[in-house]
Amino acid sequence: MSDPKVYKNYIGGRWVETVTGDTFENRNPADTDEVIGVFQKSNAEDVNAAVAAAKEAFKKWRLVPAPKRAEIISKIADRVVKEKETLSRDMTREMGKVIKETRGDVQEAIDLGYYMVGEGRRSFGYTVPSELPNKYCMCQRQPKGVAGMITPWNFPLAIPSWKMMPALVLGNTVVIKPATDTPLSVYHYVKIMEEEGLPPGVVNFVTGSGGAVGNPLMTHKDVAVISFTGSTEVGRKVSEACATDFRGCHLEMGGKNCILIMDDADVDLAVDGALWGAFGTTGQRCTASSRLIVHHKVIKEFTEKLVAAAKALKVGNGLDESVDMGPAVNESQMNTVLNYMDIGKNKDGAKLLCGGGRLTGGDYDKGWFTQPTVFGDVTAEMTIFQEEIFGSVTSITACGSLDEGIELCNNTAYGLSGSIYTRDVNKAFVAMRDVYTGIFYVNAPTIGAEVHLPFGGVKDTGNGHREAGLAGLDVFSEWKSIYIDYSGTIQRAQIDNN
Ligand code: UN1
Repeated sequence: MSDPKVYKNYIGGRWVETVTGDTFENRNPADTDEVIGVFQKSNAEDVNAAVAAAKEAFKKWRLVPAPKRAEIISKIADRVVKEKETLSRDMTREMGKVIKETRGDVQEAIDLGYYMVGEGRRSFGYTVPSELPNKYCMCQRQPKGVAGMITPWNFPLAIPSWKMMPALVLGNTVVIKPATDTPLSVYHYVKIMEEEGLPPGVVNFVTGSGGAVGNPLMTHKDVAVISFTGSTEVGRKVSEACATDFRGCHLEMGGKNCILIMDDADVDLAVDGALWGAFGTTGQRCTASSRLIVHHKVIKEFTEKLVAAAKALKVGNGLDESVDMGPAVNESQMNTVLNYMDIGKNKDGAKLLCGGGRLTGGDYDKGWFTQPTVFGDVTAEMTIFQEEIFGSVTSITACGSLDEGIELCNNTAYGLSGSIYTRDVNKAFVAMRDVYTGIFYVNAPTIGAEVHLPFGGVKDTGNGHREAGLAGLDVFSEWKSIYIDYSGTIQRAQIDNN
């Protein structure tokens, strides 16, 4: 086998090695014999160089007319369309999720790219009448400056696009640290950006660990805003780092999302939804359907059908088109999930209905495969009901009414996504209003957000910001209110207007 390719950092328009001289390997979680590539193990000095390059580039980039910036974004999106299959395959190789889903991930980056192209000619501010004669009032967005981005491994291209495209169209410059498990997808994206004419320094790419690269990035005084997607534990540190000097901070963190299945639901539809919501992306979505709260009148039918469907899922290498579920992203993630399976069985005392362990034997031994796992008789006090697992585990809890279901749904520290299966429009509207989350679905599972709506959550999931859609622009811009007095006299607001 030939030596794996060595990928460099991209700083100030040049592909450079880290000052540390160290590298790390990126391996395929479905077949750990395969090294996907070797990446730079960077440190604070590399981050400093990247931030300095971004700061310098900001001086010119912010003055490029937004429609021109958007033209480059349009070309980038066109290239992602052309390279969709290669990008998807490489993403499955480095991250493990099945090829259908990596195609969806790449598609999400395409969609968001084209959406933001439109913002090049919109980015609306507004004008309003003044309270004084011969005076004009308007407000407009202005870019913040250098945007630091720390992105996760579960959506290796989609989530970087949610952050990079709005930042760029608004005139910010970027330093991105991709997850150590999935640097290749962001590398490809940045390479496309370079080739499609993004000026040097506008986007900088620095690989390495959270401690050695993420920390100096989030604490850097020249980084005007940090956008972070990852765990609530790390998000809290990012928030603290930004709070002391009032720099912008957008956090997108954990979830413990629930599907409510009412007694009038189409049970087969709910089973399909729960299966997809729980085991899509091997359950490694912030939006995964990890709690299924089911009316006792349909719980038996629902449980039997879901367990049968979960047992029938084909687990394996995601490049095989017939596979339904890939591996966990790495060994430590697999161990976390196995540990929660143990907690469910032994500490919580929930009823294990299927799965419950690692998949071994044959090709499974080469990767980090876990069984699709369903627990029954789960109650609100249990750890597996409360904590985010981020793996192939879901749980079933009984409820006796819509009110009780909603109360159970809200009984969590998180508030990302929720859903209800019902044929009763009244119940649907009550749940839409009373389930306390940033995203809600009716007759669909908790996953599947589209890029032109705000994405994010309440409580421990977020800090009040959203990404994607128009709301995503708010993270990367400041409002500036502008008053133009053309009266030629001194006019005092609130005083001279009687
Ligand atoms: C995530 O859950 O981490 O809504 C992101 C979805 C995808 C994005 C999920 N479009 O399921």
